[in-house]
Amino acid sequence: MSINTRPLGRTGLEVTEIGFGAWGIGADMWKGARDDESLAALRRFVELGGNFVDTAMGYGNGHSERLVGEVAREHPQVIVATKVSPKNGRWPAPPEATAMDAFPGEWVLRCTEASLERLGLPAIHVQQFHVWNDSWLGEGDWQDAVTQLKRDGKIRHFGISINDHQPDNAVRAVEAGAVETVQVIYNVFDQSPQDRLLDACLANGVGVIVRVALDEGSLTGNITPDTAFPEGDWRHGYFGGKRKEELQPRLRAIEQALGITTEGLPEKALRFVLSHPAVSTVIVGMRSLRNVERNAAIGDGRGLPPGQVEKLRAHRWDRNWYEPARD
Ligand SMILES: NC(=O)c1ccc[n+]([C@@H]2O[C@H](COP(=O)([O-])OP(=O)(O)OC[C@H]3O[C@@H](n4cnc5c(N)ncnc54)[C@H](OP(=O)(O)O)[C@@H]3O)[C@@H](O)[C@H]2O)c1
Repeated sequence: MSINTRPLGRTGLEVTEIGFGAWGIGADMWKGARDDESLAALRRFVELGGNFVDTAMGYGNGHSERLVGEVAREHPQVIVATKVSPKNGRWPAPPEATAMDAFPGEWVLRCTEASLERLGLPAIHVQQFHVWNDSWLGEGDWQDAVTQLKRDGKIRHFGISINDHQPDNAVRAVEAGAVETVQVIYNVFDQSPQDRLLDACLANGVGVIVRVALDEGSLTGNITPDTAFPEGDWRHGYFGGKRKEELQPRLRAIEQALGITTEGLPEKALRFVLSHPAVSTVIVGMRSLRNVERNAAIGDGRGLPPGQVEKLRAHRWDRNWYEPARD
C-alpha cells in the first residue's frame, strides 16, 4: 500500500497527502497516550507509506520529538518537521510581541540544536516557528539565524506555523518569499484560508501543511454531549461550556447535505481539505493503529467530487474555541 504524494511547495520534497501529527503522542496536553502504542502507530503509518511527520519541541517538552526521532532513524525516508517554541511562551503570538521577544536569533539556534539532539538526526527537514506575526518580517535577527542553520546543514527548509484562525497574518511572509512552508488550521468549519492565504501559497510556490483538519475531534463525529475527557486533558477547555451541544446540529447538517452517516464524517472532512490544490499534506493527530489505518487509506489521490466541496462551503463556522468558553 502507498499514500499519494504531493510537492511541498518548491522545497523539492514530495510529501504524503496524509501526514502524522505528533502533538498527541507528546502525552502532556493530550492525556492517555502510551509510548508503546504511539510508536506502534507511527511505525504503522510509515509501513503504510506515510513519510511526513510534524512535531515540535513543545510537545511533551521534547517527548514527541524523541519518539519521532526513534522511528525516523529506522526509516530514512521519513521527513520530519518540527517547531521552535516562542521564547516569550505566548501562544498565539499577541500582536504587540516583537520578533526579538519571540524568536531572537540565539534562541532559534539553541533550540534547533536541542531538537536535533532529541531527534538524533543530522538535519531537520523543515524547521518552523510555532507562532507568527507578519509584523516580524524584516524585524529582529531571526532571518540571520535561519540562514546560518541552512548554511551549516542543520535545517533544510524553513516555515511558520500560523496563529490559530489567523491565516491572513502570514500572507505578507508568503508574498515576500520569507518562508517555504506554512502550517495552518483549515477544515470544514474554518474555511478562512480559502479567502487569501491558499491562493497566495499557490502563486508563490509555498508548501501548505494543514493542521486540525478534524477540528480537534469535532469532525470525527465522536464528540457527543456525553463525551468525557481524561483529567487534565486540554480538550476540557476546547469543548467547554455548551460547545459539545452546539456542535451536534452542525454535524447533523453536514451529514444530511452529503447523505452520509456519522461514521463517514472523518473521511469527508479529510478529503475536503485535500480537494484544495494548494494543500501539500494534512497532518492528522492519531495515536492508534485503527486511526492510522483509516486515515492512510484516504491518501489515494482522490479529493471530494466538486459538488460535495460546494455543499460543504455552506458549513463554514467561524469561531475560536481555543479561547475559553464564556458559560
Ligand atoms: N500551533 C500549532 O502549530 C499546532 C496546533 C495544533 C496542532 N498542530 C499539529 O497538527 C496536528 C493535528 O492536529 P490535532 O492532532 O490537534 O487535531 P486533529 O487532527 O484535528 O484531530 C485529532 C483527533 O482526531 C482523532 N482521529 C484521528 N483520525 C481519526 C479517525 N479516522 N476517526 C476518528 N477519530 C480520529 C484523534 O484520535 P486519537 O488521538 O485518539 O488517535 C484525535 O482525537 C497535531 O498533532 C500537531 O502536529 C499544530
